[in-house]
Amino acid sequence: MSEIKKIRGFQDIYGENAKKYRYVVDTARKIFEKYNFSEIILPYVEDVSLFVRSVGEATDIVQKEMYVFEDKGGRKVALRPEGTASAVRAYVEERMYAQGGYHKLFYEGAMFRYERPQAGRYRQFHQIGAEIFGVSSPMADAELIKMVSDILKALGISARLEINTLGDFESRKKYMEVLKEFLESKREFLCEDCQSRIERNPLRVLDCKVESCKEITKEAPALIDFLSEESLKRYDELKEYLKALNIEFVENPRLVRGLDYYTDTVFEFITDKIGAQGTVAAGGRYDTLVKQLGGPDTPALGFAAGIERLMLLVENLPKDKPLVVVIPVVSEFNIQALKAAEKLRNNGMKTELLLKEGSLKSKMKTANKLGGSFVVFVSEKPELKDMETGEQEIFENIDDLIDVLKDKAQV
Ligand code: HAM
Repeated sequence: MSEIKKIRGFQDIYGENAKKYRYVVDTARKIFEKYNFSEIILPYVEDVSLFVRSVGEATDIVQKEMYVFEDKGGRKVALRPEGTASAVRAYVEERMYAQGGYHKLFYEGAMFRYERPQAGRYRQFHQIGAEIFGVSSPMADAELIKMVSDILKALGISARLEINTLGDFESRKKYMEVLKEFLESKREFLCEDCQSRIERNPLRVLDCKVESCKEITKEAPALIDFLSEESLKRYDELKEYLKALNIEFVENPRLVRGLDYYTDTVFEFITDKIGAQGTVAAGGRYDTLVKQLGGPDTPALGFAAGIERLMLLVENLPKDKPLVVVIPVVSEFNIQALKAAEKLRNNGMKTELLLKEGSLKSKMKTANKLGGSFVVFVSEKPELKDMETGEQEIFENIDDLIDVLKDKAQV
């Protein structure tokens, strides 16, 4: 029979990589909790119009990358390409705003985008992310960025922070008109993709990676000249807060992001160490989205980080607990071995009961392969072997052995 392969752009995460995945998520989770965020577990499938109305009709995500299908009830649904839209939908649908105050939520899980797979870019990937609803102060922007920077630091990852402001909705609309006119006058010099972006999504032309487009947009009118006083003030305040928190940043007026819902602050954490897909975390404000999705006028902001990209950058995993392998010397001692393993586990030891039958020699070989730090031989009297030093010691009973082993294994 022929073998069935996994689908292109999808991955099996196992062994050391699964450990890395868990380490990244657990580290982020601890920091989310320190900042008093609470978890929200969101559906993987949503009504397709949620993403059309939030991420944006003209964006690459909605135009080309969404997994859309009709379910058996004839509903047009999508596998979520990102988490913000669902978080906003939940905030509105569950009437969280009715509780007053403000809300800080975090999430973790798979996202789906039909992109061209390459290192650091997959069709199913995983994000950790957080959203804040109901706060307009740029203090929240600074805290959010600080939290992302804490997560990266805790993982031992250094990345450059780039920030920009897109202004409020009105000033951006005005700017886009002027930009469109400018781009239209240079149409013939732009790459094919950008030519089609002029009408659909002119801001994206500003972050096109094609050299000739980069040259042309150098002369483009600058968004900053169209910003309201209010937006400029917010941006200045944010920069002041970041400086006070000793967070280094670079201002990048070309940073526009690939999703339509942003207003004012946008930011990305970027590294040069993992090739072309160097953005490890990104986010910003989206002050009009909650209302756009049927909720009350609510300022909001958030970020998401790609877990696989963070995994590529994590160098040192915390050391595993030492493994104790329990070996019944002959099968007459199987019951005692089952019980000894139970006792060791109850005492907090990571324990592998050697399940393969065979000679003692072959069992020892397996214990080595499993990476056991200690072996407990179960026989008339239990015997402990330290695999590193080779030392062996016989005990009266398993309790005495555990007392000594606890010390050695530092449990
Ligand atoms: P995004 O920039 O589309 O933003 O994605 C955030 C991060 O997810 C990226 O910086 C990258 O690390 C990771 N990522 C995106 N696509 C892929 C892929 N195909 N393969 C691997 N990793 C990927 C958002 O998703 C927004 N929801 C962020 C946000 C939250 N803004 C406000 N709140």
